[in-house]
Amino acid sequence: MGDRFNTVAGWALFAGIIALGGAIVSSQYFHSERPEKMGYAIEGVEAEGEGAAAGPSLNTLLAQADVAAGEKVFAKCAACHTINQGGANGIGPNLYAVVGDEIGHGRAGFAFSEVLKGKGGTWTFDAMDHWLKSPREFAPGTKMTFAGLGNPADRANLIAWMNTQGSNLPLPAADAAPAAEGDNAAAPAEGANAANAAEAPAANAAE
Ligand code: HEC
Repeated sequence: MGDRFNTVAGWALFAGIIALGGAIVSSQYFHSERPEKMGYAIEGVEAEGEGAAAGPSLNTLLAQADVAAGEKVFAKCAACHTINQGGANGIGPNLYAVVGDEIGHGRAGFAFSEVLKGKGGTWTFDAMDHWLKSPREFAPGTKMTFAGLGNPADRANLIAWMNTQGSNLPLPAADAAPAAEGDNAAAPAEGANAANAAEAPAANAAE
């Protein structure tokens, strides 16, 4: 009786050891790591971060620009710049009608740095955006000791407001996305115009 009990207890103990060993071994094999990226990537949906970094284009930002907000951004420039018509040059040149104007020239004889004088071209929206993002990168060695405006929307708002100060260039249209489709879309539109043009004389002839 005692022997049989010991045998039963022995088997039970043995089974327990096997079970425990099995659990340890299986945990080695089926050990689950938390994946680096949780969830599934859904195609066509931009990952946060990445999409936010790219952001809307300058053209799109200009098309949606808040001119009044841009005027407020100019407070950062007013220590060195006037922008009223005939305003005095200070540490920086007067900026009336500067959008679209030659880079580093004129401005009632302001003494521009050699680098800005030699830059060439005009202040397109794009050039102005690069300049205001980082004057030092746009024109290394410039006299404009201004770190730059990091926020693309601030720059677009400011440029749109500066444009109202004597320049009044037409703002670019917001970019169609993706650009390739915009190009294709132009073709049928032209075709449609041609069709209309062809119809028009016929209609006249009928009259
Ligand atoms: C610390 C003074 C200072 C501040 C602040 C400053 N600028 Fe300037 N800015 C200058 C100087 C100096 C120049 C001439 C740069 C050169 O010759 O290299 C200049 C040149 C420019 C020009 C070129 C003008 C031309 O006719 O080519 C533009 C445009 C301009 N600044 C816009 C701005 C705007 C917009 C801001 C505000 C976001 C700003 N600046 C802030 C000092 C300043």
